[in-house]
Amino acid sequence: MPQLSFQGQKLFFSTTGTGPALLFLHGFCEDSRMWDAFVAHFQKKYQVVRVDLPGFGQSEPLSGTTIREMAGAVRAVVKELKLPPFVLAGHSMGGYIALAYAQAWPADIRAMAMIHSHPYEDDAEKKENRLKSADFVMRHGSDRYVAQMIPGLFAPDFAEKNRSIIKQLIAQASLYPPEGIADALRAMYQRPDRSEVLRRASFPVLFLIGTEDQAIPAELSKQQTILPPSASIHYLEGVGHMGMFEASEETIEILEEFLRDLGLEGIERD
Ligand code: MLT
Repeated sequence: MPQLSFQGQKLFFSTTGTGPALLFLHGFCEDSRMWDAFVAHFQKKYQVVRVDLPGFGQSEPLSGTTIREMAGAVRAVVKELKLPPFVLAGHSMGGYIALAYAQAWPADIRAMAMIHSHPYEDDAEKKENRLKSADFVMRHGSDRYVAQMIPGLFAPDFAEKNRSIIKQLIAQASLYPPEGIADALRAMYQRPDRSEVLRRASFPVLFLIGTEDQAIPAELSKQQTILPPSASIHYLEGVGHMGMFEASEETIEILEEFLRDLGLEGIERD
């Protein structure tokens, strides 16, 4: 995987395929491997870029980082690749970073996909839990933290039938340094409301919402859908917070249709 240095820390990314550019941002305690099925599908027609956000996958943590700074890390990749305006897709925390990116560099964005994400600040209870979790992960380690956190991201029925997927994600996330997980928790704790970015969006926005999402309830997600001037809204029935795994084909199809409707379809290559 190629890497660059961002604020003195290693930042890993990858690019594959050619055509209109798509950039994927993973969520909290995930890494760029979560997009494997998306890359396999979209690389036939698109340039697909993905980043291991600081502290996750192979990328090193950025001490005391913020969501805005993580957007800056993404920008460093965009500059390194000399990427033309692109479609930015973010899952959950990746969506928070996508909004911070669009706020700072709106001209880079052709369209955005908010996948199980939203623009709002944490409420008081969530903020308190972030700090407790940061403390827990630093005291007990990444493995104990992610083992209790990751299963709850999936709809119970899916989790019951797909234990191996969850086991694999836990095994991957157990290797992230606790500092990086705690940094991301504190970054989310501090992040401001970015509703205005959606309200003023000059680009179309796709929303993917899981009806059984416990991490970001569908009711909260729904509120944002009226904000952008141009929105495409999809509810994934019976899906939790992880549509990329729980409804992989449907999620890919929805994104593909969104891109086609925007006239952003690339030419298929073998
Ligand atoms: C994520 O999946 O990135 C997290 O659930 C986001 C959050 O905790 O707000």
